Amino acid sequence: MAFSILLKLVKRGAEADIYLTTWNGRKSILKIRKRKDYRNELLDNRIRTLRTIREAKMISEVKSFGVSTPLVYFVDQKKCEIFLQFVPGKLARDLPNGTIIKICKEIGRIVGTLHKNGIMHGDLTTSNFILARERLVIMDFGLAQKTEKVEDHAIDLRLFKEVLNSAHVNIVSKSWESFLLGYQKIVGRTRMERVISQVSVIEKRGRYANVV
Ligand SMILES: Nc1ncnc2c1ncn2[C@@H]1O[C@H](COP(=O)(O)OP(=O)(O)O)[C@@H](O)[C@H]1O
Ligand SMILES: [Mg+2]
Repeated sequence: MAFSILLKLVKRGAEADIYLTTWNGRKSILKIRKRKDYRNELLDNRIRTLRTIREAKMISEVKSFGVSTPLVYFVDQKKCEIFLQFVPGKLARDLPNGTIIKICKEIGRIVGTLHKNGIMHGDLTTSNFILARERLVIMDFGLAQKTEKVEDHAIDLRLFKEVLNSAHVNIVSKSWESFLLGYQKIVGRTRMERVISQVSVIEKRGRYANVV
């Protein structure tokens, strides 16, 4: 197939394969949600279609309140494929420690803006942010949800904190502090404190679960 010659596998993920390709002459990322053989076929199709549509919708919605995301070039619902604008830059995960600490404030602002507009990201890791020409771009919205709940927003923060703890262990407290500064700027002190206290609740629950 001539088309496939233009595909270069970037990442084989648990949920999707990511290819570098072109779309109408523009450099593009093709995200294909793969069939899972262990799942019932009907259910599997439904999950993959839902996440594909959700990702495309959320990306566009989030843009409307000023958060940088890749453009969606094309969505093929049937094949569970999305063509996205290729964003050149480095993953936040791979930046030097000092830079990570600094951009955590911007990550906090972005997450605060999502939450303020009633959107939970659902997969907040440092691999889902690209630093492109001084601009931080957030991606991977397949698990995003519309929710205003403190509990749901706390799940986002808890995951991000866990990612700092596992992938950026030497800079956890500085990055977390920086993240919260940015987050507070957007959602305000009272809301931030409510979310953080819910993060503590989740953490305690986790600890007890480990003990039992
Ligand atoms: N629009 C894009 N521009 C550049 N790189 C991208 C883009 N989308 C995804 N990638 C790369 O592919 C990786 C996985 O994409 P992502 O959408 O996060 O899927 P996954 O569900 O596998 O995490 C990202 O961490 C990034 O390295
Ligand atoms: Mg990702």
